[in-house]
Amino acid sequence: MRLVKLLANLGYGSRKEMQLAIRNGWVTDRDGNRLKPDSKTAHEDVLFDDEPLDPAQGVVLLLNKPVGYTCSTKDHGRLVYDLLPDRFRTRKPALSSIGRLDKETSGLLLFTDDGTFLHKVISPKSNVPKVYELALDRPLKGDEAALFASGEMMLESEDRPLKPAQLEVLDDTTARLTLHEGRYHQVRRMFAATGNHVAQLRRSRIGALGLEGLAEGEWKALSDNEKAKIFA
Ligand code: URA
Repeated sequence: MRLVKLLANLGYGSRKEMQLAIRNGWVTDRDGNRLKPDSKTAHEDVLFDDEPLDPAQGVVLLLNKPVGYTCSTKDHGRLVYDLLPDRFRTRKPALSSIGRLDKETSGLLLFTDDGTFLHKVISPKSNVPKVYELALDRPLKGDEAALFASGEMMLESEDRPLKPAQLEVLDDTTARLTLHEGRYHQVRRMFAATGNHVAQLRRSRIGALGLEGLAEGEWKALSDNEKAKIFA
């Protein structure tokens, strides 16, 4: 791909702006040689303003989402995209979140520009477990784990029972729940159906991938090994 198009697709600016950036000498190889608009230098050898380029198409990002951010590109208030560099909003192909977390849920959120990868993660066939840590307003009654594991639990206004989910009780009001699907507000609705209320909710794992030491609000691009952990 021509350098101008590559940079524009990564969201660094319009093609016109990228032509100017190249003419101004802001785009070089690792030896500091200025590159030309039609240069075919390999992605990993191009520097923009002395910095390596953002990951190429096929990227998967991991974000530790704080509470208070909405998974949307154009809602009111704070958006998860505000936590990523601005240019990521104009990448082509576009970055989308893989599934969503509620505004009041924190933790592990993935983004990708690779539609095939996105579908593989959310496909029922992949059966990827998602692990949530939660705190409840009221003590657990003791029968929740059996209900959630039954494969027969119905949520209001749905016509299919939930897949079996595993509840690990940590103490009276805290627990870890593993789901193998992702229905709307699923964790909150499951506990609401038992007469309880989820006060805090954090997703800690998808497959065998955890937050990998990321602080809240931080993100990183996943390596191939880390991507593979999702399906491990
Ligand atoms: N279940 C919920 O209720 N909310 C989330 O954000 C994720 C799972």
